[in-house]
Amino acid sequence: MLKLTAKALVCAMSLSFAGLSQAEEPISIKFAHVVAEHTPKGQGALLFKKLAEERLPGRVKVEVYPNSSLFGDGKEMEALLLGDVQLLAPSLAKFEHYAKQIQIFDLPFIFDDIHAVDRFQQSPQGKALLTSMEGKGITGLAYWHNGMKQLSSNKALHEPKDARGLKFRVQASAVLDEQFKALRAAPRKMSFAEVYQGLQTGVVNGTENTWSNYESQKVHEVQKFFTESDHGAIDYMVITNTKFWNGLPEDVRTELDKVMAEVTVEVNKQADDLNRASRQKIIDAGTSEIVTLTPEQREEWRKAMQPVWKKFEKDIGADLIEAAQAANTP
Ligand code: LMR
Repeated sequence: MLKLTAKALVCAMSLSFAGLSQAEEPISIKFAHVVAEHTPKGQGALLFKKLAEERLPGRVKVEVYPNSSLFGDGKEMEALLLGDVQLLAPSLAKFEHYAKQIQIFDLPFIFDDIHAVDRFQQSPQGKALLTSMEGKGITGLAYWHNGMKQLSSNKALHEPKDARGLKFRVQASAVLDEQFKALRAAPRKMSFAEVYQGLQTGVVNGTENTWSNYESQKVHEVQKFFTESDHGAIDYMVITNTKFWNGLPEDVRTELDKVMAEVTVEVNKQADDLNRASRQKIIDAGTSEIVTLTPEQREEWRKAMQPVWKKFEKDIGADLIEAAQAANTP
């Protein structure tokens, strides 16, 4: 009897130690992305790690994988759904297989500037897109800015006809594919990690991206011209696996939601400065020329690209297109 009680006691003690060590094991959160660390997204991921680990000491461990070092374009969404990574922040151009409506962000010239993009993201319609993929197991936690896109090429692009016949790298987006076809150029879908080499070897002659992505990938080493077109935006949706996020202990989830909100404010405050600094670095490198468009020339680019909207109106929804345009008025 006494023997049995002692055995039961040992059993109970080892169980409670097991419970303790289980409770002590921090929750592992892998955050993978494709860009360099000194970019808006790169900085945001690092700040998220810092604040999450400070506020939840011993409860979470955040590992950040920049530069496609864990998963690159193409594989990352699958990895998120399989639970191999817990946080991603793909550009809004990379969601077409999950929610067609998110293609709204790729429509050329739909937003006048990054402030309009921001207003739309904060509108009820913009916020609804964050939860639009939950049926597929993906939850959007926040929108992060990068900035407005500029064109790059090994030839000076002043007017739409200058792009004719050139090969442009595009993100995996049907809208962006059509955007370059509208210029009678040849789009090539390519992952971000392949951009530098694609330009260097002449597989493509040009591309579109933000100043911070150009500078951090050293695109100015392999492109002679940048046209300041501001014809679209590259922004991000920070996403997680719905089941993973909902399965977190409530206090952890609440704190991580707070951290994400704080980081979002910071990223969105600093994105513009980071892009300006990158633009200046490209100028200082002296390798390329920046083409400034006159208002008339920019209008020509708009006219050439805007017919793309009609092609995607059915997928995106006329109402959503209207809501996005309304965001141009503060
Ligand atoms: C690109 O592929 O050009 C961008 O989506 C990269 C990024 O994440 O900013």
